[in-house]
Amino acid sequence: MIRAGIVGATGYTGVELLRLLLAHPGAEPAVVTSRGNAGERLDAMFPNLRGHTDLAFTEPDPGRLAECDVVFFATPHGVAHAMAGELLSRGTRVIDLSADFRIRDAELWSRWYGQPHGAPELLDQAVYGLPEINRARIPDARLIAVPGCYPTAVSLGFIPLLEAGLVDAAHLVADAKSGVSGAGRKAQVGMLLCEASENFKAYGVAGHRHLPEILQTLGDVAGTTPGLTFVPHLLPMIRGIEASLYAVLKDMDTDLQGIFEQRYAAEPFVDVMPPGSHPETRSVRGTNRCRIAVHRPQGGDTAVVLSVIDNLVKGASGQAVQNMNLMFGLPETAGLDGIAVLP
Ligand SMILES: NC(=O)c1ccc[n+]([C@@H]2O[C@H](COP(=O)([O-])OP(=O)(O)OC[C@H]3O[C@@H](n4cnc5c(N)ncnc54)[C@H](OP(=O)(O)O)[C@@H]3O)[C@@H](O)[C@H]2O)c1
Repeated sequence: MIRAGIVGATGYTGVELLRLLLAHPGAEPAVVTSRGNAGERLDAMFPNLRGHTDLAFTEPDPGRLAECDVVFFATPHGVAHAMAGELLSRGTRVIDLSADFRIRDAELWSRWYGQPHGAPELLDQAVYGLPEINRARIPDARLIAVPGCYPTAVSLGFIPLLEAGLVDAAHLVADAKSGVSGAGRKAQVGMLLCEASENFKAYGVAGHRHLPEILQTLGDVAGTTPGLTFVPHLLPMIRGIEASLYAVLKDMDTDLQGIFEQRYAAEPFVDVMPPGSHPETRSVRGTNRCRIAVHRPQGGDTAVVLSVIDNLVKGASGQAVQNMNLMFGLPETAGLDGIAVLP
């Protein structure tokens, strides 16, 4: 059994990691941290875990965490910067769900996150954990930067178009919507029921922190940095991201459906839906799946790609477990083959 540590297990991605790891055939949570709730049993805070674990939260102590085979950071940015180096030097592998190691350029990171980069010396060994483009590099990685939620939904939708050079990469548009759990469990007025429910709005139009990450990924596959208008929205629901993506085709004869089906034929967690489909967030709720449909409205020159994920699973904790499976030589789908709950 792989012994896993989780730093920040009282948050939403943390409890999702617990749900996945407690049901995992090859791994188990061993050290689970909280600064504010150390000593409390996990199932006292999260009743869905009753009957599945006797563990209690402990203070984040690098010594205890280093006894694990792998440590997940489900923490705000900056925390993994401070702790990852020591864990790595003691032989523990690190899977970071925060943005700390996603952007290769430390100066660019510090501009978007408004603080100096806390561990630029580790950036060379960080692998961006999007298996659909980096699968070959993940098994030997010591440090994984799990992609953000919007970047996962947006990148998976654009990758087939950009890899094949089918669209005008200078004018991409991503219109993306996320459920409220994307903002985490900490108290914020804008996320209160009375503020977020029965409401729908865009935010971060001038520049969202996920933009440089998406541009880096799409630039890697396109061979040149694309132009992207990225507009995120807050949806009055708990889980899920829907990204509607627009790109102008260079060649009107392109078989879009065939290109997407071929690109993702071997991908266990990307489902290219039949022509004419409209993927729904509830069809991936609680699962590690990304469902994609591709359209060309009225036979025009614009490709419309619809991409849905669960922000807490393929957009965070599920993708983190997918990376763990690859790092430790387990079947990639181990512990991740659940079916979404409907209705
Ligand atoms: N929510 C999503 O959909 C989503 C998706 C992809 C990526 N992410 C990223 O994943 C990370 C976690 O997100 P979240 O939504 O789970 O956040 P969250 O619900 O706010 O939880 C954050 C956790 O971090 C712990 N923490 C905070 N400061 C800490 C520190 N200095 N040292 C140790 N632990 C600390 C907190 O626990 P204690 O205060 O109890 O110690 C809490 O359990 C963030 O970087 C986020 O951007 C989130």
